[in-house]
Amino acid sequence: MTDKYAVIGNPIAHSKSPLIHRMFAQQTGQDIRYEAIEAPLEGFAETIARLRAEGYKGCNVTVPFKFEAYQLATQRSGRANDASAVNTLIFEGGEILGDNTDGVGLLADIEKNLQFKLFLKDALLLGAGGAAAGVLWPLFNAGISIVIANRTEAKAEQLAAPFEGAGTVHARSYEALTGRSFDLVINATSSGLSDQLPPLPDGLFKPGALAYDMLYGKETPFMAFARQQGAAIVADGLGMLVEQAATSFALWRKVRPDTTPVLAALRKQ
Ligand code: ATR
Repeated sequence: MTDKYAVIGNPIAHSKSPLIHRMFAQQTGQDIRYEAIEAPLEGFAETIARLRAEGYKGCNVTVPFKFEAYQLATQRSGRANDASAVNTLIFEGGEILGDNTDGVGLLADIEKNLQFKLFLKDALLLGAGGAAAGVLWPLFNAGISIVIANRTEAKAEQLAAPFEGAGTVHARSYEALTGRSFDLVINATSSGLSDQLPPLPDGLFKPGALAYDMLYGKETPFMAFARQQGAAIVADGLGMLVEQAATSFALWRKVRPDTTPVLAALRKQ
């Protein structure tokens, strides 16, 4: 029997996840169906209840429901707890298992696809919303020092607070970035969605630096800025999307797809 999965978000129409999981299923010979479902903003829990009643095996969760998914899960992985957010649910008997594959997805894209070594590098993380929170612990665990900058400074401070004492994660204002440079700058703000650029000073990128925008599907003002400022590698978040999907797929199906041909096919489109 075909097992059913879905991605739940709002909006969701332009999600590439169904296409990615279809390619994974074809490659690994798994008999699954995967669709995109838009849940009403006030109707996430009801949507999950319906999917469970209809025999779905699990789902991905995207903006703006990752925090609600975390709360709904009856068991959570360490990665989910670190992020306080869930992007992968597994329906197993009476349980709803919650995991978060965004962080490992970002790391896999940076280290495997982009061949950029993270260990002992200096990183600047822009933003302090859900996207930034989801990748902060995995970045920290990769052995890099991190400055978090956010328009609303208090949110950056809140995100950095659990790391106090470790000495490697600090919150700073955008103004305080003047005169500093980094090996890696990750844009985890949603500024690109509205074609805006966070107020970044010149000279942010060290020689060999990677500029990474977690959005995908367009050249954002941040990516254009990074090119103009001489960043050695400029990447969007498409590789992260494929890598986080692969880990979700492996959690559900116990088989790991090869992401390389899938990412290549998506880039060609
Ligand atoms: P997500 O789950 O995608 O992270 P979010 O929780 O709404 O969405 O967070 C959006 C992030 O992008 C926030 O860090 C926001 O900054 P504020 O906390 O100050 O609101 C940031 N952001 C959005 N538009 C921005 C812009 N034009 N310039 C700088 N930061 C921006």
